Amino acid sequence: MVEIGRFPFHNHRRWLPGFISTHRTLFLVVWVVGFATVFLWQSSSTDGLLFFRRALPDKAAPRLRPFAYNITDFGGVGDGVTLNTEAFERAVAAIARHRGRGGGQLNVPPGVWLTAPFNLTSHMTLFLAEGAEIRGIEDERYWPLMPPVPSYGFGREHKGPRYGSLIHGQNLKDLVITGHNGTINGQGQAWWAKYRKRLLNNTRGPLVQIMWSKDIVISNITLRDSPFWTLHPFDCKNVTVTNVTILAPVTGAPNTDGIDPDSCEDVVIENCYICVGDDGVAIKSGWDQYGIAYGRPSTNILIRNLTVRSVVSAGVSIGSEMSGGVSNVTVEDLNIWESRRGIRIKTAPGRGGYIRNISYHNVTLDNVRVGIVIKTDYNEHPDEGFDPKAVPLFENISFSGIHGQGVRVPVRIHGSEDIPVKGVSFRDMSVGITYKKKHIFQCSFVQGRVIGSIFPAPCQNLDLYDEQGQLVRQSASQNSTDIDYDI
Ligand SMILES: *[C@@H]1O[C@H](CO)[C@@H](O)[C@H](O)[C@H]1NC(C)=O
Ligand SMILES: *[C@@H]1O[C@H](CO)[C@@H](O)[C@H](O)[C@H]1NC(C)=O
Ligand SMILES: *[C@@H]1O[C@H](CO)[C@@H](O)[C@H](O)[C@H]1NC(C)=O
Ligand SMILES: *[C@@H]1O[C@H](CO)[C@@H](O)[C@H](O)[C@H]1NC(C)=O
Ligand SMILES: *[C@@H]1O[C@H](CO)[C@@H](O)[C@H](O)[C@H]1NC(C)=O
Ligand SMILES: *[C@@H]1O[C@H](CO)[C@@H](O)[C@H](O)[C@H]1NC(C)=O
Ligand SMILES: *[C@@H]1O[C@H](CO)[C@@H](O)[C@H](O)[C@H]1NC(C)=O
Ligand SMILES: *[C@@H]1O[C@H](CO)[C@@H](O)[C@H](O)[C@H]1NC(C)=O
Ligand SMILES: *[C@@H]1O[C@H](CO)[C@@H](O)[C@H](O)[C@H]1NC(C)=O
Ligand SMILES: *[C@@H]1O[C@H](CO)[C@@H](O)[C@H](O)[C@H]1NC(C)=O
Ligand SMILES: *[C@@H]1O[C@H](CO)[C@@H](O)[C@H](O)[C@H]1NC(C)=O
Ligand SMILES: *[C@@H]1O[C@H](CO)[C@@H](O)[C@H](O)[C@H]1NC(C)=O
Repeated sequence: MVEIGRFPFHNHRRWLPGFISTHRTLFLVVWVVGFATVFLWQSSSTDGLLFFRRALPDKAAPRLRPFAYNITDFGGVGDGVTLNTEAFERAVAAIARHRGRGGGQLNVPPGVWLTAPFNLTSHMTLFLAEGAEIRGIEDERYWPLMPPVPSYGFGREHKGPRYGSLIHGQNLKDLVITGHNGTINGQGQAWWAKYRKRLLNNTRGPLVQIMWSKDIVISNITLRDSPFWTLHPFDCKNVTVTNVTILAPVTGAPNTDGIDPDSCEDVVIENCYICVGDDGVAIKSGWDQYGIAYGRPSTNILIRNLTVRSVVSAGVSIGSEMSGGVSNVTVEDLNIWESRRGIRIKTAPGRGGYIRNISYHNVTLDNVRVGIVIKTDYNEHPDEGFDPKAVPLFENISFSGIHGQGVRVPVRIHGSEDIPVKGVSFRDMSVGITYKKKHIFQCSFVQGRVIGSIFPAPCQNLDLYDEQGQLVRQSASQNSTDIDYDI
């Protein structure tokens, strides 16, 4: 650091013009130049900042397990070129030997650690230092193929096997992925380009996928540029995701959902910043006949204090794959900005299952095209084998404290004769609109209530109650339709 600091001083001094004669002026000039150098340095590119950081000693990783390793202990090289797959596999194998003794921690120091996909183990903490990046290799030949997720029947995009995830785990217990905001980078650009050119024969892999596991904590890290969904806990119990940043380009990064809790129970997702190319969070539970047969719901899910931006999709979604059912979801203190849709529930005939006991509270919509959307004809099916008579049920869905500005269509609840949306309620809503006042609270086949006055004025399908809970006016037209996709 001293070396770097001295260089410009000498350099500039040689160039000083002759009018600087006194020591005082010289001191002043040196001071100003030094200050400007530090200022330019601070505001310069990330490379400059990284260089600055590397010159300092690492911020020590806290000891979180009885046994701790450094990826360099296993031959890892963080130069962004060396492939570290074997180093990671050896490290995980070493930690696996400590199960029953509190497990082990793997520290990944600053640097770029290129790797192919690898598996984690139980009782493990993966700790990513500040400036550490685990980077997925782009060449898909390094990505193993795995059987499809059982509740989807096929890979989500292609029949047959699908690519595994960069970081993967199955049948684990007690797993932590954390750090000082280190990064897991999927280098999705190459995958998105191949997907667009139809060069892939198998469904793309997620960045981090943990299956059939419990007691999972993911915190204090950044996940970026996933090939497909970013974080996919499947059929897991007791999952906490906190203080995580998830990034992908907001356009041109297909299917880069942030977090997809899928057939999971007891999940907390909180204090995250998510800005991605598809849904910020999408709660799922399997696809049509495969999801119905697998029969595992997503339930007891708490989502709070998220900031989400989703230019092509929605901030927080349920579905469209929800065939195992989704219940007891609380979403609160949510801020959605510059997004296509805010809150979305999507399903279709053939899904079966149910969406029950869902509550949204304290949601801010800032420049969102459609605020709240329920769509019941999201007709994307794995194959022709779905049962069109398997219709999802809606029950007890409440919205309160919904505020915001710059929203074009605040509400669009598009139920149908086959899939009526029942049991919705609205209370304390005031959303600033950007369009005309008519047809912006759109409804079709919806039964429910509004408590107190809300803005914009609700559709006529809903019953009106006063703040004391007394019925003011019962709807006579629950089935009437006022849906207009042209707005
Ligand atoms: C890991 O090892 C590298 C190289 O030996 C060292 O520079 C770094 O400080 C170590 N980090 C931790 C967290 O032990
Ligand atoms: C991870 O484990 C699963 C299940 O055993 C296996 O199918 C997969 O190939 C493993 N992945 C890697 C990269 O070793
Ligand atoms: C969130 O993570 C950042 C960096 O990863 C850390 O500095 C901060 O203390 C964390 N906040 C909480 C509340 O854990
Ligand atoms: C973590 O890193 C990401 C990406 O570099 C950054 O956007 C975010 O602000 C950082 N979070 C904290 C808490 O420093
Ligand atoms: C996809 O399949 C075609 C035809 O079998 C083959 O030529 C091509 O290499 C495959 N692509 C990948 C990425 O596996
Ligand atoms: C959930 O997982 C956390 C982290 O492993 C653990 O501390 C907690 O005891 C678990 N909760 C239950 C109810 O098992
Ligand atoms: C996140 O980081 C902060 C600051 O280092 C730490 O206090 C906190 O325990 C971490 N949280 C988790 C869940 O790891
Ligand atoms: C909400 O999450 C942000 C990180 O996105 C964090 O800085 C803030 O402290 C959290 N607020 C609360 C009340 O926990
Ligand atoms: C609903 O989920 C919350 C966690 O968000 C949990 O505390 C509560 O017990 C669950 N309720 C039921 C009826 O299971
Ligand atoms: C849904 O909520 C109702 C009433 O609050 C409760 O009786 C029921 O147990 C809940 N069901 C689920 C699956 O959470
Ligand atoms: C509502 O959520 C925002 C975050 O989006 C938070 O800052 C605010 O404190 C919350 N308000 C209440 C009343 O909880
Ligand atoms: C509304 O449609 C449902 C079927 O979705 C039907 O059961 C009900 O009788 C209809 N109500 C009216 C008033 O027509």
